[in-house]
Amino acid sequence: MAQIIDGKLIAQQTRAEIAEEVAQLKTQGITPGLAVVIVGENPASQVYVRNKHKACGEVGIYSEVIAMPEQTTEEELLAKIDELNGSTEIDGILVQLPLPTHINEEHVLNAIKPDKDVDAFHPINTGKIMIGNPDFLPCTPAGVMVMLQKSGIDVCGKNCVVVGRSNIVGKPMAMLLLAANGTVTVCHSRTKDLASVTREADILVVAIGRADFITGDMIKEGAVVIDVGMNRREDGKLTGDVDFASASERAGYITPVPGGVGPMTITMLLRNTLTASALHHKR
Ligand code: GUN
Repeated sequence: MAQIIDGKLIAQQTRAEIAEEVAQLKTQGITPGLAVVIVGENPASQVYVRNKHKACGEVGIYSEVIAMPEQTTEEELLAKIDELNGSTEIDGILVQLPLPTHINEEHVLNAIKPDKDVDAFHPINTGKIMIGNPDFLPCTPAGVMVMLQKSGIDVCGKNCVVVGRSNIVGKPMAMLLLAANGTVTVCHSRTKDLASVTREADILVVAIGRADFITGDMIKEGAVVIDVGMNRREDGKLTGDVDFASASERAGYITPVPGGVGPMTITMLLRNTLTASALHHKR
């Protein structure tokens, strides 16, 4: 049976470290600040935004939620971002995705000042990740790297297989594993004979958004299996992209859903807000 990587516990420990750093900064008169912008009323986004705001409060980071109506124009949103770019209280800006379809996501993400881009979605930041000189690490892949480190799993020289090639998870995940000296393969919906590739993985990271898609027979005995998926089953239960029951029979380490990668994502957003604050106070 696989050893469980407890994301909730690792997130708690990391948030305690962050809270201490924030307390230290406050003795110097510095309070890191995050603005979270949400446009419209997507219920899942509302939950995520509430959780981000709450997590900031718990570690002592100042946060503002800016809720704008569904019919907000791109111009109005860009004006708000411009205002936040110039604010001295705000170190980090996050625009919750997805945006309403009449707003061009790329225009909006590109408008965030790169040194306030705590999601690391701006092309300057994705480029810096690509060349191995990042200011901010994208939250979910960075959370996965912390989970590996804190579980004593060394990436160097390992066969790492990433299933999924999104800009938010798959692509930056591959870059971080590569930076840690893994041998990295990226798979996607057009990959031929996926199981023959995943079975070679010492470290398998799955982010495809298909419930219980990776089954035990696709996993090498003793592999590390990281499940980034978050899917709602018909019975209302939350499940990942990995079939936990069969996978945990084969894997050496596995992350559960819920309680795996999820809690780490917001934790890394808090970490990035501290990084942004440090960038702004260095000047
Ligand atoms: N929507 C789903 N995941 C994310 C994320 O990591 N950042 C933002 N801004 N929106 C999201």
